[in-house]
Amino acid sequence: MSSFIETEQAYIKDIIKQCGYDIDEVVLNVSSRPELGDYQFNGAMALAKKYGKNPQIIANEIVEKIKVTNRYENINIAGAGFINITFSKSSLIKHVNDLNNNINLNYENNEPKTIFMDYGGANVAKALHVGHLRSANIGEALKRLAQSLGHKVVADAHLGDWGRPIGLVMLEIQKRYPSLPYFNPNFEGEYPNDAPVTNKDLMEIYPIASAKAKEDELYMEQARIMTAKLQDKDKGLMALWNHIMSVSKTDIKRVYDRLNTTFEVWEGESDNYQYVAEMTSYLESKHIIEDSEGARIINVKEPEDDHEIPPLLLFKSNGSVSYETTDLAGIWERLKIWHPDEIWYLADARQSLHFEQVFRAAKKTQIVKDNTELKFIPFGTMNGQDGKPFKTRDGSVMTLEALLDLAQTECEKKILPSITNPERTKVANILAVAAVKYADLIPYRLTDYNFDPVKFSDLQGKTGPYLLYSTIRMRSLLKKAQEAKISFKEYTTINNKTDRDIIIYLLNLRSVLLKSFNAKSLNDITEYLYKITNLYNNLYANNHILTEENKSLQESWLILTKVIYDNNLKLLNILGIEVPERM
Ligand code: ARG
Repeated sequence: MSSFIETEQAYIKDIIKQCGYDIDEVVLNVSSRPELGDYQFNGAMALAKKYGKNPQIIANEIVEKIKVTNRYENINIAGAGFINITFSKSSLIKHVNDLNNNINLNYENNEPKTIFMDYGGANVAKALHVGHLRSANIGEALKRLAQSLGHKVVADAHLGDWGRPIGLVMLEIQKRYPSLPYFNPNFEGEYPNDAPVTNKDLMEIYPIASAKAKEDELYMEQARIMTAKLQDKDKGLMALWNHIMSVSKTDIKRVYDRLNTTFEVWEGESDNYQYVAEMTSYLESKHIIEDSEGARIINVKEPEDDHEIPPLLLFKSNGSVSYETTDLAGIWERLKIWHPDEIWYLADARQSLHFEQVFRAAKKTQIVKDNTELKFIPFGTMNGQDGKPFKTRDGSVMTLEALLDLAQTECEKKILPSITNPERTKVANILAVAAVKYADLIPYRLTDYNFDPVKFSDLQGKTGPYLLYSTIRMRSLLKKAQEAKISFKEYTTINNKTDRDIIIYLLNLRSVLLKSFNAKSLNDITEYLYKITNLYNNLYANNHILTEENKSLQESWLILTKVIYDNNLKLLNILGIEVPERM
């Protein structure tokens, strides 16, 4: 079954054909003047242009044909030829019942695709930081949206586990514990089973190593050598690398779990690296690699470029690979294994040049054929309250966990006093994740915003906790009705404008979902959730549903409550937000 509005659009398209006009697509929009109708069709203007006629005449012809069918409660023409439609009570009532029977009505899709997504990007041996937060939030929500619209999605955590940072960490471990067997080329025995470092050690080691490398050119050179040796699969370094991987991955998984961020595959740059040799022979056969001062590169600039696009650095002069190389090999691997129609990458907008280089190389070398789409989905930054990049008090980068903790402290204050530990902490965490995610998804994806835990956790206004509070209240109303043995099976009565406004807004869901999917931004969905919840809360505040004496009205309100509740659950789930039992 197609969505309500799409059915109406198809109907009007048919009428227009009957009037003798050809039209590709009929789009009905929410009316900008609700006093004239629920929805509006503005296509008479374009038809008038195409057929050299007066738009009012065309609008008239269409309206006359529809009028005789009695399909709408009202249909009229305003201004230059805007057709306004008011839906009949009976069709709105039917729609509520249809939704009650199938809340997935607005999610159908005739062209499901296979989409490979890359929105993890956490770096091994380094703490997840705020930069990884938006990627996880937007990426996870886009995955869930795509899945709910019937697409097949495979998401990869794509750990940063093969580049300079890991070389730096290994170097610093060597400086601290030079006698560890991993660094001894003559070591013949079995390497220890236990990791020489804990995750806490790693969190401390990386910032120190990175600071040293910035100041000390010799240290930096040693890190380069260490990285090259690792990429050369030195036996001892591989053993140490495996330890670091397992310690660090456990912690990274824990943080992604806390954030309701899920991946189907847990690969990393090192897995892509396995395909570098195979890919390089292919590139050699195409004679596409050039030598440049000892390095091997692929030129990706085009004559029509209006900005400088540097060549892709495939192999550095010491033989090690770059961030671009593993990403290119990643495309090679993903096409080979998953055959995706599209590959989506989420990363900070500052990585756009990197992806431009990689995508160009993938196309130029025909690693990617025309039938696969590569999409970079950049996002803006989250800043501190002062609008500047987020820092802790001592000036270092704020970890993602520290940031969630700040939100959790605020959310904890909002929970009922009767909820005690351990439930209290659990609920506070759910609220914190909801607060942070919802606030993150409100602005259009490319827009920067400021982190404000007090505002984000407010129980009033456009916040995650407000939506959770309202949704839990709907659930508890439904539960109370059930406990009081009030049966609700059918929607029959639209009481007044408050009720009608809710239904009219429900009609808009399909277009919101598609708009969000096409823009790869969740802002339309966050807005929709807020608005529909507000509309429902008006109904809730103005009526006493459980004690209502008019039984068919009571039943109708309960059905509407259930539809809005189910719909909220579905949309919150798309945003990656969990609903607690109580709060
Ligand atoms: N690890 C990278 C970072 O922390 C992000 C990875 C994004 N994905 C990719 N395929 N390059 O900046």
